Amino acid sequence: MTEKIRPLLAGNWKMNGTRDSLTEIKAIAEAITPAQALKVEALLCPPATLLYVTTALCQDSPLAVGAQDCHQHRSGAHTGDISAEMIADCFGTYVIVGHSERRRDHAETSELVRAKAEAAHAADLTAIICVGETLAERQQGQTIAVLQKQIEASVPQGSTAQNTVIAYEPVWAIGTGMVPQPSEIAEAHSFLRSDLVTRLGRTGKSMRLLYGGSANPSNAAALVGIENVNGLLVGGASLKAVDFIAMYGACLKQPA
Ligand code: 13P
Repeated sequence: MTEKIRPLLAGNWKMNGTRDSLTEIKAIAEAITPAQALKVEALLCPPATLLYVTTALCQDSPLAVGAQDCHQHRSGAHTGDISAEMIADCFGTYVIVGHSERRRDHAETSELVRAKAEAAHAADLTAIICVGETLAERQQGQTIAVLQKQIEASVPQGSTAQNTVIAYEPVWAIGTGMVPQPSEIAEAHSFLRSDLVTRLGRTGKSMRLLYGGSANPSNAAALVGIENVNGLLVGGASLKAVDFIAMYGACLKQPA
């Protein structure tokens, strides 16, 4: 039931990166050729402060650029927030929504995440919607139930494989060096695939499902080799060009 899907390697820089880091972004942008990008898409999501300068830097590169969050409204009195329109105005094409750090730090609910994804779609951005269980939820055998609830409430009805990517990021695997067993990732992704097909029909078959949580150059090949894993959402290991490029190479080596 797996369809041919172009994988996506996405880097989430979180609250890291200053103008000095542009050398890393430039190195990544220059390393990826258009022919490679037809096989595996590459995306960087720097902090909002670097968004515009990054898209300018990537003008001649197939490296896509996105943001890490957006507000659910188009404009207005929301001090400190940025809208999906503003991201598009900076030539960003993706936005991450519902990352567990935002759900935790800003008490974001799945309903809010859905509104943000809808705002992203309205601005012609692709939304990367993050879901994932905590350690306590996994230990209580709640993983699939948690994913089901998050998908149900976070993914807009009109989502398509073009405007939406789902990232499975177990909260306990983020930044900890702990990675689920391949069978655990396969189980979660297989559930996500069938749930999306049930909800969205055919488009659910080709929607990309990323894995995120302590992915690095040493485990990238094994992770993207798991069934229904269509790429990675990488935090720490995306900050250095040499690591990002190594992971990109691992994705490219996957049999088509
Ligand atoms: P790490 O790769 O640093 O574990 O972070 C994963 C993540 O949260 C990406 O969004």
